[in-house]
Amino acid sequence: KKTFKIAVIPGDGIGKEVMPQALRVLEAATTRFDIELELSPIEWASCDYYLAHGQMMPDDWKSRLQGQDALLFGAVGWPATVPDHISLWGSLLKFRREFDQYINLRPVRLFEGVPCPLAGRKPGDIDYLVVRENTEGEYTNLGGVMYAGTEREIVIQESVYSRFGADRVLRFAFELAQARERKHLTVATKSNGIAISMPWWDGRADAVGADYPAITVDKQHIDILSARFVLQPGRFDVVVASNLFGDILSDLGPATTGTIGLAPSANLNPERSFPSLFEPVHGSAPDIYGRNIANPVAMIWSAALMLQFLGAAEAHDAILAAIETVLREGPRTRDLGGDASTTEMGEAIARLVSQA
Ligand code: NAD
Ligand code: IPM
Ligand code: MN
Repeated sequence: KKTFKIAVIPGDGIGKEVMPQALRVLEAATTRFDIELELSPIEWASCDYYLAHGQMMPDDWKSRLQGQDALLFGAVGWPATVPDHISLWGSLLKFRREFDQYINLRPVRLFEGVPCPLAGRKPGDIDYLVVRENTEGEYTNLGGVMYAGTEREIVIQESVYSRFGADRVLRFAFELAQARERKHLTVATKSNGIAISMPWWDGRADAVGADYPAITVDKQHIDILSARFVLQPGRFDVVVASNLFGDILSDLGPATTGTIGLAPSANLNPERSFPSLFEPVHGSAPDIYGRNIANPVAMIWSAALMLQFLGAAEAHDAILAAIETVLREGPRTRDLGGDASTTEMGEAIARLVSQA
């Protein structure tokens, strides 16, 4: 029997509502496939913890989590009481950096039974992977404000790209594309306007791509790439992007498949030197928190990606099949046009996982 140690970090807002549904589905999957999960519930990495302790996490957070096989994460952020840059740089962004989770893999897929906001699109027409660079790029703390409070105020925030960091995410994306049928890679760029880093990024894509002659590479400026996510989603297979561009694309893509409430993500340290982190793409959704109406699928699918990464492919497949069935037949939460609760949808998926 395989045993995995999982740190369970619900975080804030609807993170606390969708996490129990993921745990319910994991329970069903692990029972059926004879896997054991050793769950450690963690109440820090939340704004409640911050309000009580003045920091998002205990000082020894890293050593407490280092021995885990994976981190299952809900969402962090409660801007009414804690500024977002404090809560996020104090938790999620720290995990990504300090655990070197340099890949953020975000699948985008249109499911049967989910109304598509794009006219005339059917399941199969939208099915691609966003590979987001997850540890550098536009997300930095380098810079500052000068002449603060005066008319001459100046703010500078640097972006940082390393050859090591760019090459490894590009290589990961090429490898993914290689393993897929279409063997197509879109490289998000902005080498016309961002005149130092982005021409360099394109050059790294060429350099790494030299090892992958079978892959067709399409470099697209981020502006038109975004337009094509809407107008020609069938063009995309694997899309690789810098940290910020990937962040934006990974909300836009899921929006074209009906709701961001479906979108999962895998923050990976492929070398497994550190635990990887699995979380929905969405945030804590303060506007709907407390009503048990959040869509739990993004969280549940993220948990399935975790099992897949841990080597439990069958369990992943069973969860995905159950998600497909429930999206097709209901019950559905409001963002999908239904009136089911978070719990009802989670229960329905868990039931299918234990039955099949
Ligand atoms: P958000 O993703 O929390 O919400 C955006 C909109 O989508 C809201 O209208 C929300 O109700 C809706 N939505 C999100 N998830 C849903 C779900 N599962 N089912 C149905 N509807 C859903 O983004 P935001 O409003 O920009 O951010 C709110 C807070 O979350 C902020 O503190 C932000 O920093 C944080 N945030 C955290 C993460 C994360 O932890 N990974 C990601 C994004 C935002
Ligand atoms: C995401 C989120 C985070 C990001 C925020 C909350 C810092 O939007 O995971 O997509 O920008 O990476
Ligand atoms: Mn985001």
